[in-house]
Amino acid sequence: MRHLLSAADLDRDAAVALLDTAAEMAATQSREIRKLPTLRGRTVVNLFFEDSTRTRISFEAAAKRLSADVINFAAKGSSVSKGESLKDTAQTLQAMGADLVVVRHSASGAPHRLAHSGWIDVPVVNAGDGTHQHPTQALLDAYTIRRHLAAEGGESRGRDLRGLKVVVVGDVLHSRVARSNVDLLTTLGARVTLVAPPTLVPVGAETWPAEIRYDLDDAIAGAPDAVMMLRVQRERMSSAGGGFFPSPQEYHRRYGLTGARLAALPDHAIVMHPGPMNRGLEISAEAADSPRSTIVEQVANGVSVRMAVLYHLLAGAPATTTTGASL
Ligand code: CP
Repeated sequence: MRHLLSAADLDRDAAVALLDTAAEMAATQSREIRKLPTLRGRTVVNLFFEDSTRTRISFEAAAKRLSADVINFAAKGSSVSKGESLKDTAQTLQAMGADLVVVRHSASGAPHRLAHSGWIDVPVVNAGDGTHQHPTQALLDAYTIRRHLAAEGGESRGRDLRGLKVVVVGDVLHSRVARSNVDLLTTLGARVTLVAPPTLVPVGAETWPAEIRYDLDDAIAGAPDAVMMLRVQRERMSSAGGGFFPSPQEYHRRYGLTGARLAALPDHAIVMHPGPMNRGLEISAEAADSPRSTIVEQVANGVSVRMAVLYHLLAGAPATTTTGASL
């Protein structure tokens, strides 16, 4: 396998190898050497059919810190608005010399199609597809959890997340972040609990390797090591179905990380959010800005993790996957 399409494709060894490489990348960034020559002469294309701040910019920063050239493509303002297809867009960009394509798309499965259709013959990285997967988000979340909670004496390399309790809260129905984190965190040994209103739990979630609960206070009473708040994705809720539960005020009261819930967490527990946040809805400003919040650090860690992914895919570092192929 030479693409990164799903967190479910990573076995423990492949995931730990990526996290270890990310730690090495982070170490280079904290010294004077800000730019590594590793990918000089390679071109990374950011192909974004959906809006993004963190993912797009951090892939760009990651590629540039490895000395790759970067082409940023946004569907808005492109020939996609004239009806150009994903296939024709991707082939146009490959003709311009792309060595790797990072793709975000509102359609679940679009990166998989791009990787396996034969339209292009370069590695594809999924930067978020519909409600399906966001594997680099899961990797940066795992990296952040490992840095804070799996380290003894400051050394976390080679470690997994065995035994850690992670509670993922909110709009699981629309969340590719939740799906990716359930896959990756459980592969790394964490115990994941999903907490959501019944209307925001997807059909089939009972088969996932995670406990499902409906009461956030009960989940917090279980002393989690990390609480990951999910964005309520109002843009994906149609008026016909999946409507908002039951009002923003009621959602915050029952599922928001309020100051009182923050105070009820164990002292060592961290507060996470993939961003962008709806402050006052799924998370209070008090929780988002508290010393135990890792939200800004997650963004910084995203650059190191994406450097590691580009390095493994383009510079040929070995990392085996569940299929036994090299990443
Ligand atoms: N977490 C995340 O994917 O953020 P962006 O939508 O800003 O990329």
